Amino acid sequence: MNDRMLCPPECPIVPGYRAWDVPVGYVRKLAPAPTPSAPAVPPGGEGDVDETRRNVLKLVAVGGIIAAAGGGLVGGTLQYVSKPPLVGLSSYPKVQLMDLDGTALTATKVMNEYNVTTPSVLTFQYPLTNEPNFLINLAPPSGGSGGATNVVGGVGPQQSIVAFSAICQHLGCPAPAICFYPPGTCGQSFGKLDFYIHCSCHGSTYDVTNGAANLTGPAVIPLPQVVLEWDQSDDSLYATNMNGAAVNGHLNTLQGGYGVGATAQLSKQSPVIDCSFPSA
Ligand code: FES
Repeated sequence: MNDRMLCPPECPIVPGYRAWDVPVGYVRKLAPAPTPSAPAVPPGGEGDVDETRRNVLKLVAVGGIIAAAGGGLVGGTLQYVSKPPLVGLSSYPKVQLMDLDGTALTATKVMNEYNVTTPSVLTFQYPLTNEPNFLINLAPPSGGSGGATNVVGGVGPQQSIVAFSAICQHLGCPAPAICFYPPGTCGQSFGKLDFYIHCSCHGSTYDVTNGAANLTGPAVIPLPQVVLEWDQSDDSLYATNMNGAAVNGHLNTLQGGYGVGATAQLSKQSPVIDCSFPSA
């Protein structure tokens, strides 16, 4: 087995299993860490739970209890058990971005505080609270070189500020297992491009200068890009829409969670870096 194909701890698939070890509809629960009194459960043992089968049994059991009670709530209750209420939004909201300290994020702040060499993983939620997105400034540091300006979907004075879904379009590894690799993080480059978003779960790489187009698989579709708006009257930044396919894990980017409200604040994480992937 290629060790690189093992999921890191941040991967939603259990460490020790490869993506293709887990059939569709079969969810392996995270087994507890082995302790002297509780030895690890081997794959296929009691620690592996078929969630689909368990949910069907739950539904049958609940339905039986309600039917036995002879209440008139059977239909409605069963409907709730099998199909939870849909939550989400009917359209994309205009959401103001806030800095790490809770103050309004401005393009000037982004240009001064963040650039293509910034190693931290900066994310904000949009349009739902369970949909994280990267905020990346691809411009070089002041007086420096490298990076990129005037990129696809870029805003700010150098059109270098971009935002993409921080959930991998392969099997849904979230940040920081998927994160931005500043120039020189690894030896790999794609033409002249030595900075990109890379997912350490299974090796997908995305072009941040070109709408997160795929550079390496196994992902075959780009990360959805957040449509940013720069209000030059007060220098503020807004998320206004999402381009591309639905965010991974959502049939529709607007459904399956709760809206973020009027503002979305940046948060910061340390990256998870894995340089064992091929160049183009
Ligand atoms: S989840 Fe598989 S490459 Fe990202």
